[in-house]
Amino acid sequence: MNISIVGSGYVGLVTGACLAELGNRVLCVDSDLTKTAGLKKGIIPIYEPGLKELIAQNVSKKRLRFGSSIEEAAKVSEIIFIAVGTPSMDNGEADLTGIENVARNIALHMDGYRLIVEKSTVPVETGSWVKHTISTYIKKKTHFDVASNPEFLREGSAISDFMHPDRIVVGVESIKAANILKSLYKPLNAPIVVTNIKSAELIKHASNAFLATKISFINAISRICDKVGADVLEVAEGMGLDRRIGREFLNAGLGYGGSCFPKDLDAFISIAEKIGYSFDLLKSVRHINAEQRAFVLKKIKDVLWIIKDKTIAVLGLAFKPDTDDIRNAPSLGLIRMLEAEGAALKIYDPQVSSKARDALKGVRVCKDPYEAARGADCLVVVTEWNEFKELDFAKVKKLLKRPLVVDCRNIYDPAAMKKMGFTYVGVGRGL
Ligand code: UGA
Repeated sequence: MNISIVGSGYVGLVTGACLAELGNRVLCVDSDLTKTAGLKKGIIPIYEPGLKELIAQNVSKKRLRFGSSIEEAAKVSEIIFIAVGTPSMDNGEADLTGIENVARNIALHMDGYRLIVEKSTVPVETGSWVKHTISTYIKKKTHFDVASNPEFLREGSAISDFMHPDRIVVGVESIKAANILKSLYKPLNAPIVVTNIKSAELIKHASNAFLATKISFINAISRICDKVGADVLEVAEGMGLDRRIGREFLNAGLGYGGSCFPKDLDAFISIAEKIGYSFDLLKSVRHINAEQRAFVLKKIKDVLWIIKDKTIAVLGLAFKPDTDDIRNAPSLGLIRMLEAEGAALKIYDPQVSSKARDALKGVRVCKDPYEAARGADCLVVVTEWNEFKELDFAKVKKLLKRPLVVDCRNIYDPAAMKKMGFTYVGVGRGL
C-alpha cells in the first residue's frame, strides 16, 4: 500500500519504518526541515534500538523515503497516518494545534479517496473534529474516512512492540476503513479489535492510565513495605502470579516519567473534568507519583544525615533504559532536589551524557560509572540500564568515600550487597 506518515517523532518513525518493512511504500513527512534533511542522510534524531538499521534497510530497498510536504503526502497515499505531537498545555489539556493543522492541509490537497488515521494519542472526540475539519476545508469533493489506530509502543522496545503487538485497535466508521486497516496489519498476525472511533481513542488513554495506576499502586505498597520490613519485590511477585493481576508494571521505584504517562494522565483528568467527572483515582495516581521522588530523597537523607556539601554519584538520567529520552525523567526531579539540598553531583548515563550537559548546567557529567563513583559519598542508581546491573562492585567500593548505594530501581540483591560491605537502600525493601 502507499502510506504517508505525518510527523517523524518516535511514533511516526517507528511506524513508518515498520510498515515499510512489511512491504508497503512509505513516505514520512515532517515540518522540521533540519530533521528531514538529516533523515535523508541517515541521521536518526532519536536513539531506539534497531531503528537506524531498519530505516537504512528500507530506504535502500526504496520502500521508505522522507520529505516535508503534506501536499505530496495527501496526493500520493491512500492511507495517511497523523503522528504529530500533542504536548500538554499549562492546564493539562492536550494541545491539538498540530493535528488540526495537518487535517486542514490534507483537506486542501487530497484528490481521491483517503483514509486519515489518528496515530498520536488524542483526547476522545478528536476523530470527530478531524472529520469536521476535513469536511470544512476540503477543496476537491471526494470521499474520505477517518479512523483511530492508537499505538502502544514503548520506547526502548518500540520495533518489537510494533511487530509483535498484544492487540491492534482499529476505531472506524465504515467497513471500507476497517478492511483497509485489517489488511494492512494482516502480516502481523495479531488480534485486531474493531471499535468505533471514540472507543479506540478511549482505549489508548484508559490503557496508559491503568498502567500508571499499577505503578503508583506498587509505589504506595513500597512505602508500607519500608515501614513494616517487607520486600516489595516479593509482594509484587506474589501478586503478579495471579493472572488477573499480572507481574508487569509492578516495579516500585522513582515513579513513572517520559513523554507519555505524565502527559496522558493530565490530559485524561482534564477530559474527564470537562465532561463533569472528577477522576479522583487518577488524581491520586498522579499525586503518589509526584511524591515518590521526595520519598526517595528522604531515604537518602536518612542515611547521609546532611546532604549539603556531600558528593553524590547519580547513575542514569534517561526516563528508562534503552532510550536517550529525558523528557519528564524522574531523574531530573531528584537531581534538582539534591542540588537544592546543596549536594555536588556527578552524573553518568550511557546514552544521554551529551544532552545532560545542556539539561543540567553546573552538574559534572562523567564518562563512565566508575568516574562518577570516584570520591562520592553515595551512589544513587536512577535508571536500570543493564550496564549498571553488571558493575564491578569491588572497584566501586574502593572508589566511593563510603560504601553506600541507593538503588532507586531495586536492581541489586540486598543480601549480596550487604555481604560485599555496602550499606544498601532500595525502594520498599524494608529500609
Ligand atoms: C508507554 C506505554 O507503556 C506504551 O504502551 C505506550 O504506547 C506509550 O507509553 C505511549 O503512550 O506512547 P513508554 O512511556 O515508552 O510507553 O514507557 P514504559 O515502559 O511504559 O515506562 C513508562 C514509565 O513508567 C518509565 O518511567 C518507567 O520507568 C516507569 N515504570 C514502568 C515503572 O516505574 N515501573 C514499572 O513497573 C514500569
